Amino acid sequence: MNQRFAAPAEATDQPRATPQDVVRLVDLKRRFGVTAALDGVSLTVRKGEILGIIGRSGAGKSTLIRCLNGLERPDSGEVFIEGREISRLGERDLQPLRRRIGMIFQHFNLLSAKTVEDNVALPLKIEGRPKAERLQRAAELLDLVGLSEKAKAYPASLSGGQKQRVGIARALAARPALLLSDEATSALDPETTRSILALLKDINRQLGLTILLITHEMEVIRSIADRVAVIDAGRIVEEGPVWSVFAEPRSEITRSLLGAIRPQLPAELAARLLPSAGTETLLRVDVAGEAARGPLLSDLATAVPGPFRLVHGGIDHIQQQPVGTLFLSVPGSDANHLAAVITFLKARQARVEVLGHVANPV
Ligand SMILES: Nc1ncnc2c1ncn2[C@@H]1O[C@H](COP(=O)(O)OP(=O)(O)OP(=O)(O)O)[C@@H](O)[C@H]1O
Ligand SMILES: [Mg+2]
Repeated sequence: MNQRFAAPAEATDQPRATPQDVVRLVDLKRRFGVTAALDGVSLTVRKGEILGIIGRSGAGKSTLIRCLNGLERPDSGEVFIEGREISRLGERDLQPLRRRIGMIFQHFNLLSAKTVEDNVALPLKIEGRPKAERLQRAAELLDLVGLSEKAKAYPASLSGGQKQRVGIARALAARPALLLSDEATSALDPETTRSILALLKDINRQLGLTILLITHEMEVIRSIADRVAVIDAGRIVEEGPVWSVFAEPRSEITRSLLGAIRPQLPAELAARLLPSAGTETLLRVDVAGEAARGPLLSDLATAVPGPFRLVHGGIDHIQQQPVGTLFLSVPGSDANHLAAVITFLKARQARVEVLGHVANPV
């Protein structure tokens, strides 16, 4: 990556004392007829962080993003961008503010009749910057996103991932304080998605750029966000560091969004579960942080004599924090032994759920 971008932006229009909160939303409400698209959203995006907002279709994600760049006006509540309240500003006052916000989209939104470099330089053209400066900046940005050789190409000749790289370069042209991403990887295959997310993370680290990323995929949140907010029916139902929300989702909607990416009991075992009267008891044990770092299983074996077996699961790492799920099978019908296993695990801050019993050894 081009090291020139590692330095803070030298643009003179930057406020001298940049507030720590790039975005602050206070009790934002927006209705469409009977639909409360936003029903009292309060949220902050701190300088330099990547905040992921996740929710199902219709949850209010796009409405939220549109309130941030002044395309939508809330019925009530406040929208602060770099400390300035913008929700009641007129179009004219919104223009300079919109330059502080870059945006990337699911379908890239490139102009097909313009070359790659002209697409990237477009925000600067709108600002009335001289051509030489525009081309210089476009070249720097294409270098940053790894597409220098495509400067003279037209969007139609690019792959989806390349188009999104152009979209990212264009979004950065005017040196924004905030990058908004609305499902920017939803149209891309998994491998291209990973490369685009890696690029966004790189830009976040190298430029200190603040990113607000909207998605319906937990995998996207997991791979690059620092914090996550879960939105449902226009409300933030859960918010926190990504690893802790993954480790201990509090709301039903979060659990369902986590769905497939959290470890599950293999279907073949799940199908054999009985509510009672088995010869083995299956436990789901969720651990994170300290609980997952220590020698939990060997300590269990020492503290509680008697058999248990690990039948599935493992420890993952999210934001350098261990987060895991272990499926343990405790053989035998000794209720005291089972109770001792559960008591020990809970005392080590593990969350334990009795999934059921199986009639025959697993
Ligand atoms: N201009 C509008 N007129 C009427 N209803 C709207 C309008 N914009 C949004 N809505 C409604 O508000 C709710 C939230 O919509 P929004 O587009 O913010 O959802 P979303 O989370 O972005 O969904 P998706 O994941 O499908 O993009 C939905 O019920 C939608 O139908
Ligand atoms: Mg949307």
